[in-house]
Amino acid sequence: MGKVIAVANMKGGVGKTATVVGLAEALAAQGAEVLVIDLDPQANASICFAGNDILKELIEGGNTIDGYLTDRIFKRDDTKVFSDCIRTHVSNVSHLDNQLPISLLASSSELRLVEREMLYRLNRTGTDIDYFVDKLHDLIKDQLKQARKAHDYVLIDCPPGISLLTETSIRLANLVLVPTIPDFLSTYGLQTFCSNMRTGEIAKRTTLDKPKKPYVLVTRVRPINEHKHTIELLQNERLKGKPTFHLIETQIPERAAIASALGKVDSWPSFTQKWKDTAGILENLSNEIKEVLHGARS
Ligand SMILES: Nc1ncnc2c1ncn2[C@@H]1O[C@H](COP(=O)(O)OP(=O)(O)O)[C@@H](O)[C@H]1O
Ligand SMILES: [Mg+2]
Repeated sequence: MGKVIAVANMKGGVGKTATVVGLAEALAAQGAEVLVIDLDPQANASICFAGNDILKELIEGGNTIDGYLTDRIFKRDDTKVFSDCIRTHVSNVSHLDNQLPISLLASSSELRLVEREMLYRLNRTGTDIDYFVDKLHDLIKDQLKQARKAHDYVLIDCPPGISLLTETSIRLANLVLVPTIPDFLSTYGLQTFCSNMRTGEIAKRTTLDKPKKPYVLVTRVRPINEHKHTIELLQNERLKGKPTFHLIETQIPERAAIASALGKVDSWPSFTQKWKDTAGILENLSNEIKEVLHGARS
């Protein structure tokens, strides 16, 4: 069974999508079958993997996560499954002359409306929110189980904030990765995000899977004192009696190569051409994630 990695943070612009794209490609370059699920209505991961033409085709055919949820929840089509919407061999990146084995379950801007529509319907029909949270949890759990049979890793790119879908993915993931810029404001929000995962109304529900302690990944690191100091504080978290998170040792630097790699949407580079001097860092990240998921570290 493959492993599910949810990439999430309350904050936007911290490198969630950059992490999903880089990590998916590094894992795939090392030979793993990877599925990327985009849960962000901004569809950034979708456009990075699919490019303009394929993404347009997926959206027009209703083969996106919002298309899936609309059919399953609003049209009550119980036959619809993730694999109807998953686009295989979607990557335009190669490694040693082979196309990277990456599949995509894309999203579109309509996803924003799907969650709003769910809440309207709940209100109109007087349905208990708990019933709905359970239903969504079971629905996604069932589909992820199928996806895990066909892929070594399932990476979920979450939108900023905690939507019902994000909360569900966090609960069902084997690993929750929280990309964080090592500065004061980002780490202030980080403590709130990590503790929110484990408290609050939904967290009290024993019928749902419990979220695991998240792993923070420092991103967009610059050689400035503020970042150096904050990284030290993050490293000290493990010395606390009850740490709220683990820390990934690999650090993702702020590099022009990363920003421009994300823009290589409709070109066909190799993995090392695409990521240039950061390819090695992504390989380190991929190795460390494998060690966390399969090795002695927990
Ligand atoms: N390590 C990095 N170095 C340079 N630019 C980065 C890096 N990570 C992300 N970016 C840029 O920062 C912006 C936000 O990154 P993104 O991954 O979209 O964040 P999020 O998904 O958390 O909103 C994008 O324009 C992206 O190109
Ligand atoms: Mg994003």
